[in-house]
Amino acid sequence: MLADVLHGHSLTEALRVHQPQVAERDRALLAELTYGVCREFFYLDAIAGQLLRQPMKKKDQDVRALLLSGLYQIVFTRIPAHAAIGESAGAARLLKKKWAVAVVNGSLRRFQRERRQLTEKIERQDSPEVRFNQPGWLVDAMHKAWPQQAQAVLKGLQLRPPFTLRVNLQRCELSDYISELAAGGLKGRSVPGIASALMLEKPVAVSRLPGFGDGQVSVQDAGAQLAAFLLDAQPGMRVLDACAAPGGKTGHLLEHTPDLDLVAVDVDAQRLALVAENMQRLGFNPQLLAGDVSRPEGAWGKLAYDRILVDAPCTATGVIRRHPDIKLLRRPADVGALVQRQKQILAAQWSLLKPGGRMLYATCSLLPQENDEQIGVFLREHADARAVMLASRTGIGTQHGLQLLPDTLETDGFYYALLEKQEI
Ligand SMILES: C[S@@+](CC[C@H](N)C(=O)[O-])C[C@H]1O[C@@H](n2cnc3c(N)ncnc32)[C@H](O)[C@@H]1O
Repeated sequence: MLADVLHGHSLTEALRVHQPQVAERDRALLAELTYGVCREFFYLDAIAGQLLRQPMKKKDQDVRALLLSGLYQIVFTRIPAHAAIGESAGAARLLKKKWAVAVVNGSLRRFQRERRQLTEKIERQDSPEVRFNQPGWLVDAMHKAWPQQAQAVLKGLQLRPPFTLRVNLQRCELSDYISELAAGGLKGRSVPGIASALMLEKPVAVSRLPGFGDGQVSVQDAGAQLAAFLLDAQPGMRVLDACAAPGGKTGHLLEHTPDLDLVAVDVDAQRLALVAENMQRLGFNPQLLAGDVSRPEGAWGKLAYDRILVDAPCTATGVIRRHPDIKLLRRPADVGALVQRQKQILAAQWSLLKPGGRMLYATCSLLPQENDEQIGVFLREHADARAVMLASRTGIGTQHGLQLLPDTLETDGFYYALLEKQEI
């Protein structure tokens, strides 16, 4: 499983494929180990580097994954070291590589014996990658983009993500829902500046959340919930949700404003099925279309819209604590390609906006190239566009929009810019 991530696949995808093969009772442990190794990857990999004579070859990433997972168990869990070593060596046996058992077993035993010396050596080296447990290019990018906040942001990206809910305010008051939770023994608190958001003390199964099944409440980061408030669609408006899957913001748009005429599009038909599932739970029935919104030929392109949400594909650097595999998967070279895709999507959507209409551009990125710089270029190239000033208690006002930084637990990292089409 972890080897899949080391080969460039997302952890969500790897879990979708492999989790069903694991006994129900072991699935939580599987998730803890895989997410944990990704979260602590650069530290664990530095230790593995001390233990191995040479880096593992590409075809032996399965052995590397077992070693990292064994180290994670010893350093970060309460699993006794002898059990972690025994299980890892046993798993290595299944790989049918004669040398793998000796390498995994020998390395973990040596770590157990020489733990203090090895970890002190790594600490002395004081590499920024290991100190922040983030890829070096991202550490540099954060210091360049957010010199004042970089340390706090990099630390924030290492935290376990908060468990945040979105309460459907059409159906109940936030304070009433907090009382309902308390009656069930769950403690929650509101998030300043985001009216629908509620943070729980710790994650729980959604089956324990009152009203989850019939859409009274959803799981969604507080920063993501700002989108519906900023777009502020009015009843009866025609709205396009251009990059909709899995439908978190689609659901909120419909909860926020009754009687919207909403079209939700995503290029990935499998992910679009998740939007359908979500809408069914919430009791909404928007039009769902699969297609590439950077191209004009889809059915959605035959209409003009009052409001458009472009929740663009991006580096997802703002949500690393939720998806720690991003630190292994993302490469600096991806940034330019994503900036290009975002630019194409923005331009194509702009042509569908009615004069006087508003388009909200959103990313879960911390990189200015995908955010304020992208919008700066857009404004220069579109004389009929003006950026609306965004006032929020949350986030930092930038030249054209609003940046939320994940420097505390309150929100993940998001960027928003609201563009209005001038009549010229
Ligand atoms: C950040 S996610 C959207 C999250 C979603 N808005 C939510 O709140 O749950 C970006 C989405 O854009 C979709 N996407 C990427 N390129 C696209 C394109 N050219 N046309 C349509 N959808 C696209 C991806 O499949 C992905 O589901």
